[in-house]
Amino acid sequence: MLTSESNPTSQPCVLLVFGASGDLTKRLLVPALYNLACDGLLSDRFALLGAAMDPLTTDSFRERMREDIKKFHTRHAFDQAVWDGLVSRFHYLPAGFADANAFEKLKTEVARLGAQHQTGGNVLFYFATAPRFFGLICEQLHKSGFKDGPGWKRIIVEKPFGTDLASALKLNEDVLAHWHEDQIYRVDHYLGKETVQNLLAFRFSNGMFEPLWNKHFIDNIQFNVAEAVDVEGRGGYYDTSGVLRDMMQNHMFQMLAYLCMEVPGSFESNAIRNEKAKLLEAVRVYSADEVARYVVRGQYGPEVDDTGKVVKPGYRQEKDVDPRSNTETFAAARFHIDNWRWEGVPIYLRSGKALWKRGTEIIVEFKKAPQVMFRNTAVRAIGANRLIFHIQPYQGIEVQFHAKIPGPTLQLQPVNMRFGYADAFKASRYTGYEVMIYSCTHGDATLFSRGDLVEAAWRVAQPLLDYWKEAPADFPNYARGTWGPTAAADLIERDGRHWFELITDDVLKRVGIFKDGDPLFLSQVILALRPEVAAAGETLIRKGDVGREMYVLVRGQVEVLDDEGGVLAALKDGACFGEVALLVHTPRTRSVRAKTGCDLLALDAAAFSRILHDHPHFLESVLKVARERYNLDIEADSLLRGAPPRP
Ligand code: BG6
Repeated sequence: MLTSESNPTSQPCVLLVFGASGDLTKRLLVPALYNLACDGLLSDRFALLGAAMDPLTTDSFRERMREDIKKFHTRHAFDQAVWDGLVSRFHYLPAGFADANAFEKLKTEVARLGAQHQTGGNVLFYFATAPRFFGLICEQLHKSGFKDGPGWKRIIVEKPFGTDLASALKLNEDVLAHWHEDQIYRVDHYLGKETVQNLLAFRFSNGMFEPLWNKHFIDNIQFNVAEAVDVEGRGGYYDTSGVLRDMMQNHMFQMLAYLCMEVPGSFESNAIRNEKAKLLEAVRVYSADEVARYVVRGQYGPEVDDTGKVVKPGYRQEKDVDPRSNTETFAAARFHIDNWRWEGVPIYLRSGKALWKRGTEIIVEFKKAPQVMFRNTAVRAIGANRLIFHIQPYQGIEVQFHAKIPGPTLQLQPVNMRFGYADAFKASRYTGYEVMIYSCTHGDATLFSRGDLVEAAWRVAQPLLDYWKEAPADFPNYARGTWGPTAAADLIERDGRHWFELITDDVLKRVGIFKDGDPLFLSQVILALRPEVAAAGETLIRKGDVGREMYVLVRGQVEVLDDEGGVLAALKDGACFGEVALLVHTPRTRSVRAKTGCDLLALDAAAFSRILHDHPHFLESVLKVARERYNLDIEADSLLRGAPPRP
């Protein structure tokens, strides 16, 4: 990792992009180069040469990039002058990767551009192609003598690096046949994310937490990567991949390594990568029995409306997907790290597509404080302290702890301390590729994966792939837009734990009274939510009872019943109900019953009114919503007193 205090520009080079007409170039590489140029971090001695099968010319390539940058740039304001300067340094040559002549032409063009831009012979080869071409391109570069001459030569290889252990070993062998390990930069774009890089900075620049970073103080760690998107038209690729290959083996294992590795001797690239490799090598490689016990997979089915009509297709109905596909779009697993620091600490990973929300978080749950002191108080149970790394879309770090609720009796409430990147730093949004291109030109490989790391990750993933290949899958097993299959909840509940579901502002905003809540208000509401569990068939709300709380349905399904017990509506994960109780303690107008086992988060009217005290400006908008949306004539004063029954 670059440690220099000043920020020098990238080193001069020609960037030769194989697969330049594809998605990666327009969506990520070019916007990243543009960001570097805007920040004054791109060397003036730079040129890009695009190569791909498409019969483009330099002019038509530039024209395409001009159109695409409008869609994909990430700046608040577009700087035309910077862009014009950058795009004038883009060039293109059509090239078939099996065509030796094409490589000769590319070599001549790279030499010409190098001389024109005084790049000192430095060349960065970017493999933005399907992995099946990696070996072939390496071979061609070797044969055409591309690697000779002055200056450095480096290659950047995109993921996926292999599709299983055997193919990754072979790919490493092919690439290493022509390049030294220190010339190879294997991309994992998660390492380019600021929030992921900050895991290291946070752990090793703060003396506060590292002494607690072990099995004596930490109960469990959860890594959640939830995606709301489906396969987004990439069915052809995804059906040969699945979430284990697409997310876990690479992105999630990289985060796992950062969070759990030993303290490296320095920020020097190999010092960090050695520790990461040691950590991944300590992750237990499962037997088939262990896979069956510790891993769950899922595949999303269609979303249907109340009449049973399919609104959005299931995975098997997606374009380019086998209608009988057994590819997993969701996985949840418990892993073990067999070393002194982590022995016995469950490490849970969970990721999936077409889930109820987008959100990547790492939750470090500490062991609970002893209950002894609170034995004779109103405090029934003390929850765990948590340290939460919000990786995306919200970026921040949060510590959850308990505080006494003001008042004469001793009662606790979870509260938090939160740092948000947006509050502390004023930076444009980046693609994550800026830092990778930049550090690669400086020969800094910290943010790239090393061959042994990739192999260690595949070694852990391989038994899961083997087991799944043999064992029949009961797919689809979760509906689009939900929290995933129930088996994932069972997996962690067997250990007496729960997935920590981070309720986002988005979910709460589905409830009318919270719709216009500002982030601070909503974060307090989220913290006041109290977990509850209901069995299938249990009545959660009974018509005629006085309502004192509302619910967020975290997992499972509930049914709203009419007076005869007929089902009026079915609600699923992520839904909210019973919210009128927060405004007035009137009798409930409908009964609600759990259709399946449910995890719920309850917010009671008393907690809600306490929060309103701290947010008087929001009181007005709640009153407005109560009047307009719920047709309730209600006084501010009664809301602040916890909505007592109206006379
Ligand atoms: C890619 C996967 O590597 O990462 C995609 O191929 C996935 O399927 C994406 O959607 C997620 O990246 P991010 O940065 O949006 O979390």
